[in-house]
Amino acid sequence: MAATARAAFGVQHIAKGIGRLSNVVLTRGAGSFVWTDEGRKLLDFTAGIGVTNLGHCHPKVTAAAQSQLSTLVHGQVNIAMHEPMLSLIEKLKPVMPDPSLDTFFFWNSGAEAVEASIKLARMATKRQNVIVMQGSYHGRTFGTMGLTKSKTVYSSGFAPFMPGVLTAPFPYCTQCAVAAGNETVGFENCCGNPIHELKVLLKQQSAASDTAAILIEPVLGEGGYVVPPPGFLPAVRKLCDEHGILLILDEVQSGFGRTGKYFAAEHWNVRPDILVMAKGIANGLPLSGIAANKELMDRQNPGSMGGTYGGNAVACAAGVACAEVMQEEKVLENVAARYIHYDLSTPYKDGLVNANW
Ligand SMILES: Cc1ncc(COP(=O)(O)O)c(C=O)c1O
Repeated sequence: MAATARAAFGVQHIAKGIGRLSNVVLTRGAGSFVWTDEGRKLLDFTAGIGVTNLGHCHPKVTAAAQSQLSTLVHGQVNIAMHEPMLSLIEKLKPVMPDPSLDTFFFWNSGAEAVEASIKLARMATKRQNVIVMQGSYHGRTFGTMGLTKSKTVYSSGFAPFMPGVLTAPFPYCTQCAVAAGNETVGFENCCGNPIHELKVLLKQQSAASDTAAILIEPVLGEGGYVVPPPGFLPAVRKLCDEHGILLILDEVQSGFGRTGKYFAAEHWNVRPDILVMAKGIANGLPLSGIAANKELMDRQNPGSMGGTYGGNAVACAAGVACAEVMQEEKVLENVAARYIHYDLSTPYKDGLVNANW
């Protein structure tokens, strides 16, 4: 298909470093569909990369943003509080995967929120190192480039990165060398090697006393949409508890209903010390955040967090509307009715944690 004049203009003047799946020019979105400048109607399987969970331009979310635009657009967080953020906290608190997550910090993008979680982990623990998973995606900012391990394109040519980052294997059972040709191990009965490797890493490369956090996407997104085997995340939680390491769950992509629960952590009843959120939180308006227990969150010095647009009032108002739509339209029930159900919380036959772990 020949590119339109507008597409050609974009190709010429938009930074090549972005990279795009297509050169269509989008002019409108409604529900699951988007329209191009040539009037083509496309089913948006990407949902803007896991963002428009409630559909493009959901009427209630749009109305909330429009109304907020004529009330208060910018209430800078280091200057004052604003009403939509307080309302958003009221909406989010009851849906957190654990009631201990009662204190919030809002940012603009997922990557910024991941960076905020690392800042919190380092300051709260007074430790430096962070362990991430092979295949992880946490963003493309300077901080998160060092944490993203899904493809070299995100880091090649930009080094050096943030120091103190170590990588452990994510349990990818269908590609696991131990499971290959061995019928006794696999997704249902993981060999336990990833936890073993994590323990080895803590013995050989990053002493627990130097390790601030383990940062994990509960379902690997960019790295291949990989669901960890039952028991893996509880085993990581246990390891964190044993060593005073914080567990950060990056639910930027898996949150807000994308796995059938509000947050994927609920599938395994795993409590994160810090939960990272973005994307579906405001259905397309730029908003992200972290949640943690107040005692942990308040270990940071006042003024060490914040930024001009963090927790923007219009985005927060949209976030409030999203939370209401999730309830009113029974979105989670709808997802659950449509997906193939695996009971990921089922304990291993040997107990909560695999005997191998
Ligand atoms: C799991 C995860 N973390 C962080 C990010 C970065 O979010 P953003 O693109 O909003 O910076 C993404 C984006 O795709 C993601 O999927």
